[in-house]
This record gives sequence, structure tokens and C-alpha cells, in this order.
Amino acid sequence: MSLKDQVVVVTGASRGIGRAIARHCAGQGAQLILIARDADTLQDVAHQCVAEGGPEPHCAALDLSQDDGIPALFQDVFARYRRLDGLVNNAGILHEGVLGMIRSEDIDRVLSVNVKAPLMLMQYAARLMMRNNRGSIVNLVSIMGVQGAAGLTLYSASKAAMIGATLSASKELAPRGIRVNAVSPGFIDTDMTREMPAAAHAARVASIGLGRAGTPEEVAQLVVFLLGDASAYVSGQVVGIDGRMVV
Ligand SMILES: NC(=O)c1ccc[n+]([C@@H]2O[C@H](COP(=O)([O-])OP(=O)(O)OC[C@H]3O[C@@H](n4cnc5c(N)ncnc54)[C@H](OP(=O)(O)O)[C@@H]3O)[C@@H](O)[C@H]2O)c1
Repeated sequence: MSLKDQVVVVTGASRGIGRAIARHCAGQGAQLILIARDADTLQDVAHQCVAEGGPEPHCAALDLSQDDGIPALFQDVFARYRRLDGLVNNAGILHEGVLGMIRSEDIDRVLSVNVKAPLMLMQYAARLMMRNNRGSIVNLVSIMGVQGAAGLTLYSASKAAMIGATLSASKELAPRGIRVNAVSPGFIDTDMTREMPAAAHAARVASIGLGRAGTPEEVAQLVVFLLGDASAYVSGQVVGIDGRMVV
């Protein structure tokens, strides 16, 4: 159990990649704090985590487009567990639309969930991790933040922002024993990609060298590696997991 007794916060844990990360972390013995908006859905995931052999997770229903719940979340984590070992900034929203159609409120919405919340989560998580001079932060970014694609200017900008944040924070926090890495998926089979029009979905799959979408479980295994001591000397990396997708 590579994460036994490790306390790990996972955002966007209700479905898709985040749920797979939660289940894999639980299978490795992690004490999880699960975050998404709906308490009942999180409770279902918590049951799945227990079925994987992990301890009962703590569920915190939070809307990350509002940042006012974040300080209290970490106060609660400290009160319960007295430590924090891992943060997975996974919650994210997609925005598709050409540059000329992006509204000011779209920018606020996407940047609040995809950039502002993860930055604040990193800030509060790092403060707890510094108490033990150890920790691992994993930010879910995207191949679109590295390479860009037509119609994804806003989404790509948000993911590129988190790549910059990962690189800078990894330098700042390394002397405190805290590692910061990003995982950059290509096209993974989740609600986010299933909602695409059929033709666009087929075109994306056709652009993948391995000929198929990735699974949330494949991403989760990489995240578990980056959280655990098996990656103790890995920091400041943007690790692609895209089946050789060409954008
Ligand atoms: N799927 C892909 O192909 C792909 C590719 C590259 C990168 N990624 C990135 O990987 C991450 C996970 O993607 P996914 O495909 O698993 O997405 P998903 O299936 O759409 O799930 C998104 C998760 O984020 C949570 N979330 C969204 N808005 C939230 C908010 N305001 N407050 C709290 N939680 C919120 C959702 O929870 P609730 O809605 O239940 O609150 C859900 O758990 C994202 O950062 C995404 O950008 C995905």
C-alpha cells in the first residue's frame, strides 16, 4: 500500500478522472478528503473507496467557483488529521467556443474553477505540508494547455496557467520537501468528452496514435505514482498521458 496513512485531498472526486483517482488512492491505503459539489454523489464514491480497502473518506461538498469554502476546508483537515500529504487538483470545466464568442462571464467562470481555486488549494495545502516538510501536489492540466486547439482558447489558457503555476511552485516549495507536478491527459473517456458532438469525438479519437481514448484508471495510476514515495525524486514535471495524440 504505497499511500498507507497518507492524507490526500482530491478535488472533482465525484466522477470521471477524479473518482478513479480517489478509488486508486483508497486501494493504496490513503485517508481521503473528497471534494465536489454534491454531497450524495460524494458519499457514493466514499463507499466505493471503502470497498477498495481504504479508510472511510471525509466528504466535503464545495463549489470551487466560490473560494470562500477553501480556508475552512483546510482548517477542518488539520483538526481531523493534523497533517496533509497530498493534494490532487483535478476539478475542472471545459469551455468550447471560438475566440470571438467568449463572454466575460465565461472567462470568470472557467478561470475561477480551473485556475483560482487550484491556486488557493495549493497555497493552503502547502502551508499544512510545510509542517512536516513533505508533500506532493498533482495538478491536472491538459494537452490543450501545451499545444492549444481551435475553439479551446479559454480552456487552453486556464490549463497553461496551471502549467506555469506548477513549474513555479515546484521551485518555491522544493526546499520544504514538497513536490509539485502536473499530469497532462489527452483524450480520456469521461463525461467531459462524452458530451462532445459525435463527429468531433470521432475526429479526436482518430488523432490518437494508440487508436483509442484513455481511461480514467490509466490517469489515476499515474497520479498515484506521483503522490507516493516511488516518485520521491520527481518534481516540476508536466507528464503527458495521451496515447500519442496529435493536436
Ligand atoms: N477528460 C479528458 O479528456 C481530459 C483531458 C485533459 C484534461 N482533463 C482534465 O482532467 C480533470 C478531470 O476531467 P474529467 O474528464 O474527469 O471531468 P468531468 O468528468 O467533467 O468531471 C469534472 C469534475 O470536476 C468537478 N467540478 C466541476 N466544477 C466544479 C465546481 N465548481 N466545484 C467543485 N467541483 C467541480 C465535478 O464535480 P461535480 O460536477 O459533481 O460538482 C467533477 O467531479 C479536469 O481538470 C480536466 O480539465 C480531462
